[in-house]
Amino acid sequence: MGIFKGKVNRMLIFRVCAPVKVLRMTQSSPSRISKAVIPAAGLGTRFLPATKATPKEMLPVVDKPAIQYVVEEAVAAGLSDVLMITGRNKRPLEDHFDRNYELESALTRKGDAERLSKVQESSDLATMHYVRQGDPRGLGHAVLCAAPHVGDQPFAVLLGDDLIDPRDPLLARMVEIQEREGGSVVALMEVDPSQVHLYGCAAADTTVDSDVVRVTGLIEKPEPADAPSNLAVIGRYVLDPAIFDILRHTEPGRGGEIQLTDALQLLAADEKIGGPVHGVVFKGRRYDTGDRSDYLRAIVRLACEREDLGPDFRTWLRQYVTEEM
Ligand code: G1P
Repeated sequence: MGIFKGKVNRMLIFRVCAPVKVLRMTQSSPSRISKAVIPAAGLGTRFLPATKATPKEMLPVVDKPAIQYVVEEAVAAGLSDVLMITGRNKRPLEDHFDRNYELESALTRKGDAERLSKVQESSDLATMHYVRQGDPRGLGHAVLCAAPHVGDQPFAVLLGDDLIDPRDPLLARMVEIQEREGGSVVALMEVDPSQVHLYGCAAADTTVDSDVVRVTGLIEKPEPADAPSNLAVIGRYVLDPAIFDILRHTEPGRGGEIQLTDALQLLAADEKIGGPVHGVVFKGRRYDTGDRSDYLRAIVRLACEREDLGPDFRTWLRQYVTEEM
């Protein structure tokens, strides 16, 4: 367990700065991060009708639901306390990370140890907590729902639509930078300028670390002409708890939703509020499982690379591509 030194320099200031009206100035010392927050209340409309009665987070990527990769990533980075922000129709998420005694005893009776361990893997993974976001008012609002659980220490946020290949660890590096620099850290990735309007976009200065930048500004889903760079925010954040006070006063932004990017912009613009904002520029493999084409690509790539499925699947794929396409 880590040591938390508590807040220093806590005082009240008032600012007027759209979209935030009033906020409190906080500064927390770097401390070991143990909590991960995973917003999972979205409706998954891009995958209808598959998501009519099944949460999009439960769609399989090869043979595991997408959300399990995300929880595994948090645990691999040392964050074993996971809070999921859920909503209506998300009960299967809780069931997946819970024990299933009926299934376990059936597999035990059959002597199927391999499948039994697969069933138990997800319930043994992390300490899971759930809170419901009654009103889907945006990502910023979802993160704010985590405030009572997170308390006064830095924490990570992982968005379920972004799947980071386990061989290219990103979150551990972000945690390392947060512990060294304090403040908040976002994951950034260079994207084609035509794609910037799909992401939060960062203005940033270089630092002595080639993979780390100092974020000076953030804008949610800008028009190409307004984009300060082609550095897109991908769904990993390590946040100073000062973000909660800001989110409480953040007005709806892009799409009429309370945007996490807008709250982070305030932190980036004034380091005194909650420390600096850094970005870790990711160059590894990332899949957007919220997008149907990218979801299919993720399945094909991960299946090709699996020891058990890969050899047969690659042979079939090669044949399919040469003979049928
Ligand atoms: C969210 C964030 C956006 C970020 C993106 C990453 O957008 O608001 O800033 O770039 O996730 O996947 P969403 O894709 O949920 O609309």
